[in-house]
Amino acid sequence: MLSERNRQLIRALSEGRACSGNELAERLGISRAGVWKAVRQLQALGMEIHAVPGVGYRLEHPIELLEAEAIQGGLTGEAAARLRDLHIHAVVESTNTSLRDAARTGAASGSLCLAEMQTSGRGRLGRRWQSPFAGNVYMSLLWHFSSPALLEGLSLAIGALLVRVLRAAGAEGAALKWPNDIQWNERKLGGVLIELSGEINGQCAVIVGIGLNCFIPSRSMAEIDQPAAALHQIRAIRGFSRNRLVADLLNALLPALADYETEGLAAYLEEWQSYHAYHGRAVRLERGGDVIEGTIAGVTASGMLLLDGQDGVRREFSSGDIRLRAAVP
Ligand code: BTN
Repeated sequence: MLSERNRQLIRALSEGRACSGNELAERLGISRAGVWKAVRQLQALGMEIHAVPGVGYRLEHPIELLEAEAIQGGLTGEAAARLRDLHIHAVVESTNTSLRDAARTGAASGSLCLAEMQTSGRGRLGRRWQSPFAGNVYMSLLWHFSSPALLEGLSLAIGALLVRVLRAAGAEGAALKWPNDIQWNERKLGGVLIELSGEINGQCAVIVGIGLNCFIPSRSMAEIDQPAAALHQIRAIRGFSRNRLVADLLNALLPALADYETEGLAAYLEEWQSYHAYHGRAVRLERGGDVIEGTIAGVTASGMLLLDGQDGVRREFSSGDIRLRAAVP
């Protein structure tokens, strides 16, 4: 939980200028020592606050904290009606894990968990998802489905919706890499991790976890194991708001989840293909220890990857990691 005092401090420092310890003490109604202590707490979370001698404290990059009211204010009537609990955590292990625990104790479809920072953010294939404080979107949505069979292709549909929202927000170059990596200029901008939390009363609870890079400090960028991109690098959407982006995502995702049991991937397949940056390209598909080379021929109706092998045989794959052949050293 981020204390109200620390939230006020972040807001003051996000006005874009250096603030003296005296000014901050006055605005926050605390002592200068209290300001120093709060600054240290925020620095411990990874915030880049500099103390400039004779001037005061300066934040390297302004930060817009996630605010429930701002998100709710940006929702369409339909999304607002479908959204249930909205939890914004300062720091959690993983929003997917929090929501999975909530699902076990009866959380309803439409429950949302957001965090400013994750200490054990998870990615696909058991990877770690770098989750520094207050720079990105880490969100998880819960939805109940009447059968796991109806989930086929859901992760691809979510990927298509994310690209739709990002393009509408100005990131025209946002694209997909099978199965659901969100890319910009062939660098990773975000990803989707869908997890099943088991069946309760015949229903299966599905956690849709979404991570989108909005601003990544250079220190964290260096820790990411592949070329990464962040929305702040995209000129057309500079100055964007994380709260606005979360609302836009919910406006697209909540109605889509509600209709997915009846619509399925079929409603998204054409759109998904149109966003796929790797269609027709020569790639290596890495699956565990195996490497399969071929040319991407599209996806099946259930979202499997179609790969034309060098032996002329077309095969289907349900998992793996694509790398462009030209990019492989
Ligand atoms: C991927 O590897 O491409 C998927 C990344 C998904 C990351 C998000 S961040 C919010 C949610 N909580 C997690 O621990 N993971 C997902």
